[in-house]
Amino acid sequence: MKTMIVCASRYGSTLEIGRWIAERLPWESVDVYPVEKAPEPEGYELVLLGGGVYNEVVSKEIVEYAEKHLTFMKDQKVVLFAVCLDTKGVYMRGKIHGGWNYLKPLLDLFKDQLPIHAGVLSGEINPKKLNEKDYNLLMTFYNKILKRNFTEVPYRTLMNKLEVWEFVEKALSRLEGRF
Ligand SMILES: Cc1cc2nc3c(=O)[nH]c(=O)nc-3n(C[C@H](O)[C@H](O)[C@H](O)COP(=O)(O)O)c2cc1C
Repeated sequence: MKTMIVCASRYGSTLEIGRWIAERLPWESVDVYPVEKAPEPEGYELVLLGGGVYNEVVSKEIVEYAEKHLTFMKDQKVVLFAVCLDTKGVYMRGKIHGGWNYLKPLLDLFKDQLPIHAGVLSGEINPKKLNEKDYNLLMTFYNKILKRNFTEVPYRTLMNKLEVWEFVEKALSRLEGRF
């Protein structure tokens, strides 16, 4: 099945996850693209769209790519995923934050042409890779919002190949009409 995986990845983890997905798919023809280099999805039967989460929402670049090619993708099988740290979400003062909420802009786009599968996968923050703006933003988040007392952004990885492969296996079941 000719497959394309498009990843909007500012710091590389979403792209790495895209490659793990490709590794687990049981056919040869799987192309993984960073969104900025992705061609049109023409000719592909299965399209996976993934984006990192920044400031509580999936990357706008992947949403824009999906918007641009939405009509075309009505004839294709689509899988959506977001990559972040807070994959589960939390309840706080009457609201749910994180988790599936992050993927909502993409899910909303596809409400009339339902994706076969979607998920929220675990990523990482590597302070060595961050640009200055994001580094400072995260310091403010940790110290002002979470009220920590960090002197630097901590390295944190939740990257989990098993989780990614389980996600792929679920998508494969859906392709076969199973749940
Ligand atoms: C500026 C910034 C904001 C972030 N905001 C969130 C957030 O709101 N929720 C979350 O769970 N993770 C957040 N993260 C963590 C990213 O989702 C995580 O680093 C992800 O793996 C990034 O993917 P990438 O490496 O493909 O860019 C943030 C990271 C950065 C750098």
